[in-house]
Amino acid sequence: MLNYVAMNKEDNSIFILGVGHNTIVYVDLAKACGYHIAGLYHFNDERVGEVLHGFPIIDTNDNLFKKETLAGLNFGLSMGDNKIRADLAQKIREKGGNLPTLIHPAAVVSQYAKIGNGVAIYANAVVQANVNIDNDSVISHNACLAHNSSIGKACYVAFQAIVGAYVNVRQNVFVGQGAILISAKADYISENSIIGAGSVVTKNVEPNSVVAGNPARVIRKINE
Ligand SMILES: CC(C)(COP(=O)(O)OP(=O)(O)OC[C@H]1O[C@@H](n2cnc3c(N)ncnc32)[C@H](O)[C@@H]1OP(=O)(O)O)[C@@H](O)C(=O)NCCC(=O)NCCS
Repeated sequence: MLNYVAMNKEDNSIFILGVGHNTIVYVDLAKACGYHIAGLYHFNDERVGEVLHGFPIIDTNDNLFKKETLAGLNFGLSMGDNKIRADLAQKIREKGGNLPTLIHPAAVVSQYAKIGNGVAIYANAVVQANVNIDNDSVISHNACLAHNSSIGKACYVAFQAIVGAYVNVRQNVFVGQGAILISAKADYISENSIIGAGSVVTKNVEPNSVVAGNPARVIRKINE
């Protein structure tokens, strides 16, 4: 799969947006995929000039998007928030920037999986055959996507979560740590939903739902 990574990068430098708890985790992934971290961007101009783990915050997101073009530049989005990640990805693409897919060399990704742009797949994740992962989704450490499952745009599958065979996870879904989406029980997890950590999902999940527990029940709805 390293060939796949190489196909997506125009050079080995990458700028990272989103300076927070997850940034250094994303830095680890980018470096493992052979990238040089060229600098960080933050939404807050008061943070510009700070250095985090040796990487400088070089400018704000707003100033980045004032540039005429981002063509030829690689960007990575380190934030866990699906909506923010999707919005920034759209802006980067509109300006011609490149969002490479990063697949850790220790991830196991089937040659028969289909993976979009701007996807991050962390170490020890398993992606079986006929899985479809859409743009800007994150598959964290040790997560497993069983065959014929699908992950929509801008989802986050936290570590050790299991998405069963044929389960269709729609866009902007957050799957918490260690959750299990059971194949042949849950056919779909609808858009904008959150699956609580450790939940066992035995039924379809309707849009904008927060579900949790074993078996998972709706604990609240999200007002969009
Ligand atoms: C599901 C979740 C989003 C709910 O958060 P919330 O809306 O703030 O809900 P609350 O913490 O107020 O909990 C509401 C109720 O649901 C229960 N609950 C919350 N999360 C639960 C879970 N994962 N499993 C079982 N029950 C859960 C609470 O105990 C509480 O029950 P009560 O009303 O009987 O006291 C959150 O608990 C969660 O699991 N987040 C995932 C975190 C994660 O995986 N992060 C990965 C990043 S590395």
